[in-house]
Amino acid sequence: MTEKLIRARLLSFRRQPMSFDDADAYAYHEDGALLIREGLIAAAGDYAEVAGSASADTPVIDHRPCLVMPGFIDPHIHLPQMQVIGSYAPALLEWLNTYVFVEEQRFRDPAHAQRIAARFLDELTRHGTTTAVAYCSVHKESAEAFFAESHRRNMRMVGGKVMMDRNAPPELRDTPQSGYDDTKAIIERWNGVGRQHVAISPRFAITSTPEQMEMAATLRREYPDLLLQTHLSENLAEIEFTRELYPSAKDYFDVYEHYGLAGEKSLFGHCIHLSEREADAMAESGSVAVFCPTSNMFLGSGLFPLKTLDEREKRVRIAIATDVGGGTNYSMLRTADEGYKVLQLQGQRMTPLECFWRLTRGNAEALSLDQHIGSLEPGRDADLVVLDAGATPAMKLRMETVGTLAEELFLMQTLGDDRAIVETYVAGEPAKSVLATQ
Ligand code: GUN
Ligand code: ZN
Repeated sequence: MTEKLIRARLLSFRRQPMSFDDADAYAYHEDGALLIREGLIAAAGDYAEVAGSASADTPVIDHRPCLVMPGFIDPHIHLPQMQVIGSYAPALLEWLNTYVFVEEQRFRDPAHAQRIAARFLDELTRHGTTTAVAYCSVHKESAEAFFAESHRRNMRMVGGKVMMDRNAPPELRDTPQSGYDDTKAIIERWNGVGRQHVAISPRFAITSTPEQMEMAATLRREYPDLLLQTHLSENLAEIEFTRELYPSAKDYFDVYEHYGLAGEKSLFGHCIHLSEREADAMAESGSVAVFCPTSNMFLGSGLFPLKTLDEREKRVRIAIATDVGGGTNYSMLRTADEGYKVLQLQGQRMTPLECFWRLTRGNAEALSLDQHIGSLEPGRDADLVVLDAGATPAMKLRMETVGTLAEELFLMQTLGDDRAIVETYVAGEPAKSVLATQ
């Protein structure tokens, strides 16, 4: 039996923090340890106690004084956009047509799909992200390459072949039938294999005909336990075009509701410009709104009203994500920083404890994967991030005046990036330090 002890400061959340130092919301161990067995957390707590439950010859990896947390979770990211991140465009639809729908055509080639899938997982690992929900391209080959590479690395990943059959170049369109068939083939091949999860992925209402929406609805009925991902209410021109394409829908969200695509397993990227009716309907169906701050700022899409959605009587479930390549950074620390600023612009606040809860347990709950990831409880996957709040000279200097855990977290989200990620563990194995240097 392979067993190891990781000694470090440990932080794991129990629930959403409700104030700047809501100490009941988390478990913190100043001299803590995790006992890792067969890729899972077997015990977590104070070092003296946990070490006592390990055998005498169990190797100890000492990460003190770094902070170990559950690996970060990125619930919305586009794998085929790695080579168009940072492309200059006025707004969403122009950006999609000018860059994204050209770039994604390259993923018909399995060799290209394989190369980028490997680089994608490298990049996530370098940034401390151990689970992501990825859009692959329309090509079955791109989802195949993604899952094969993720499985080889034993990462817990979610992804899907995008379904899109209109308003895109012919090379990037499937059909209602082929979109259904290819998605089904990927589900049958990969869902539940190792730690792989397939998400049904109709891109958004603009690029799917009603016939394709029907097919997505059929997949949803056939596989009710799978996640489903799409985009909703990101940009005003997008909303207007959607209303033209679906004139009988009450509003944008009603398009998805009509086809039975709302629900607790449904992830809706962006949700910036929701009406009260849409927010009510999202809340009642348990649908998840995914906040993508760096993307929303980069594309000028708007300010996600996080607190408005989180604190209304009918609360909308919320996740936070990068949305690379509309998003401008793979780092969930950078994402938290931008998210904080988006709230500041609206006179809303997000505490550092809440930010780090969202990057870990909050996102795990939004994905209904909290039985596997997002906390350091026994039985959870040993997917971990090792954080150093003094990773750069500027951070180290600021650390001299930091006195509390909440302040340390705030420093990491404000100044941190991949340099603050000392190590990433995937199923108990070090993964960042062993990446080939490119
Ligand atoms: N809406 C439909 N497709 C996309 C995409 O690739 N990125 C973003 N940000 N929004 C979208
Ligand atoms: Zn997106």
